[in-house]
Amino acid sequence: MPALRSVRILGTGMYVPPDVYTNKDLEKMMDTSDEWIVQRSGIRERRFAKPGLGVSDLAAEATQHALTAAGLKVSDIDAIVFATLSPDYYFPGSGVFLQNLLGCGQIPAFDLRNQCSGFLYGLNVAKAFISSGQYDRILVVGAECHSRAINLTTAGRDVAVLFGDGAGVVILGPNDDPKRGLLSLHLHSDGAHRDALKMEFPSMRKWPAITQEMLNDTKHYPTMDGRLVFKNAVTRMPEVVHEALAYNQLKPDDVDFYVFHQANLRINEAVLKHLAQPASKTYNNIDRYGNCSAASIPMVLDECARSGRIKPGDLVCMASFGAGFTWGSALLRW
Ligand code: COA
Repeated sequence: MPALRSVRILGTGMYVPPDVYTNKDLEKMMDTSDEWIVQRSGIRERRFAKPGLGVSDLAAEATQHALTAAGLKVSDIDAIVFATLSPDYYFPGSGVFLQNLLGCGQIPAFDLRNQCSGFLYGLNVAKAFISSGQYDRILVVGAECHSRAINLTTAGRDVAVLFGDGAGVVILGPNDDPKRGLLSLHLHSDGAHRDALKMEFPSMRKWPAITQEMLNDTKHYPTMDGRLVFKNAVTRMPEVVHEALAYNQLKPDDVDFYVFHQANLRINEAVLKHLAQPASKTYNNIDRYGNCSAASIPMVLDECARSGRIKPGDLVCMASFGAGFTWGSALLRW
């Protein structure tokens, strides 16, 4: 068997729709307050895409930025791995929407459904393909249009105030620099908690999948056991970071920069505290975008790469936690 190839991120990109919804805007739609939202989550505003747009449209914009950053053309992409929990259609997947929008030829388009861990799952799938030599450059996408399926009334406020729309992408490719590259990925799931954060309807376990009665009962919106999610996130994220560090025989202090999923500022502060790391070694954009699930990590990567917060050669550790439950970490030399 030929040696596995090393892999690195060749370019990053992100896109958020222009329409800003502040906490004050949400106060007009439901019984909530800016103070409650900021104190509990750190979120101040989020973006919602205009009706008619879907995740593939946001991803296409983000891809153009990543191609420019990588100095590549659309025709250089050999495959798409698209992670989302809010796809354009129930089927086909958003990967083929994006393939068509980009006009990148009849390349394979994979769709992943791993919620807030979707980007790290996508990174692992893409890494395996490139390492083995099957494909050279893969577009890994995380994109969400959460605004389509949140209940923007008081009945849905516990979930609705937390989420936003956005897209983040990276282009992954073979690495020719021995000082750089993706070092490891560790992924996990625990379906015993599948009901702790879910959008159950339309349900292919029911016949019909959706009824007027279900709609009347607002069953087509997500539900969440917020405390259970919080408790598991602050345990699993440090755990999976330690797993990555132990695998690479490193310590938390060896990491130059931590990139965490943007679910809740309090979760990320707790994770950093657990790792005994200073706030200067991470970056959060949840205050401006809310939780963009699969898009959150690549959006942070893009903002940090462009601003110089993450520099070539930095040891970067990413970690996520989300519905499923699913969680994971990735370690790379940028
Ligand atoms: N505005 C105002 N009040 C709200 C509200 C909102 N948007 N949402 C819920 N409340 C109310 C509830 O009705 C409840 O009221 P009650 O005590 O009268 O019944 C109260 O606030 C709950 O407050 P509290 O128990 O202090 O909430 P919390 O500290 O657990 O915070 C979350 C709630 C959702 C912010 C928190 O549990 C959390 O962040 N969980 C993780 C969520 C997450 O990250 N999900 C995505 C994972 S990828």
